[in-house]
Amino acid sequence: MGSSFQDHLTTRRAEIEQRLDAALRPQEGLPDELLRAMRYSLLAPGKRLRPLLVLLAAEACANVGNDPWPAACAVEMIHVYSLIHDDLPAMDDDDVRRGQPTCHKEFSEATAILAGDALLTMAFQLLGEGYPNAAGAACCADLARGAGAAGMVGGQADDLSWERAPHHKERTFEELEFLHGRKTGALIRCCLRLGARVAHAHRPDGPPTDLLARLDGYGRCLGLAFQITDDLLDVEGHAEQAGKRVGKDAARGKLTYPGLLGVEESRRRAADLGRQAREYLAPMGAAAGRLDDLVSFVVNRDR
Ligand code: IPE
Ligand code: IPE
Ligand code: MG
Ligand code: MG
Ligand code: MG
Repeated sequence: MGSSFQDHLTTRRAEIEQRLDAALRPQEGLPDELLRAMRYSLLAPGKRLRPLLVLLAAEACANVGNDPWPAACAVEMIHVYSLIHDDLPAMDDDDVRRGQPTCHKEFSEATAILAGDALLTMAFQLLGEGYPNAAGAACCADLARGAGAAGMVGGQADDLSWERAPHHKERTFEELEFLHGRKTGALIRCCLRLGARVAHAHRPDGPPTDLLARLDGYGRCLGLAFQITDDLLDVEGHAEQAGKRVGKDAARGKLTYPGLLGVEESRRRAADLGRQAREYLAPMGAAAGRLDDLVSFVVNRDR
């Protein structure tokens, strides 16, 4: 990954953080403690991968003048809600996230649950208010599908119920990818779809089907690769760098890539998925250059 792409990421992240900050301000009816908890988690130092994907997908569609920001902020709100809830004692029971105490440690469990609820619902408000009728409705439907019961939430439910399940060691590769494709992949995939939808918000029929399918295919591969590297970081990473505890998946009996396939095979799978992701972009030419650069960032990341 070239340094100019790194610089681009740094600039984009700063912009994303300003937009998130502006999207979450005091308002009539919003209790101070709830707002503080939402801002605490949302504005903590994250990689901002999901909003970046929205922005880069819109750019890959030669986005002309349509505002990608409501969608970019919405996906980060959903992601942060999922992190807050993922860390709760009833779920992964973690006390550090993004290098700081988890939301329920800093505030209370009840406040953390409600901060997650509020970020989740605010995401849909941003989409509904940000885009004209048909595009806004399509974005809401995509986001609900990706984040919902048969997407991220479904994956989270299986992740927990498969922990230390009696037949844990007999799980198949297909089951592993089905799990990761939902708990992490579905939202990442959705970011690419939203990028295409907002770039084409002015077209009554939405984005061209082939373009949407290419970005969707890229997102599916990238999302899986991203969770493989998350699982690898849990085995080989450093807590200070990752900003969260490591070594917890095996201890909890989670179904993970390194747990099922071993480290080397997991790395190979991530590299394969990276290659497949790039193949989807190839016909899109230079406009998709930054999405192409992002693949090695995801496959080789150390946080
Ligand atoms: C962590 O996501 C949870 C997963 C879905 C693997 P990220 O690694 O993107 O977390 P932040 O946003 O950078 O904190
Ligand atoms: C989390 O996966 C996926 C979601 C939050 C939806 P993990 O439980 O592996 O994420 P970390 O490792 O706690 O960040
Ligand atoms: Mg989890
Ligand atoms: Mg977790
Ligand atoms: Mg993890």
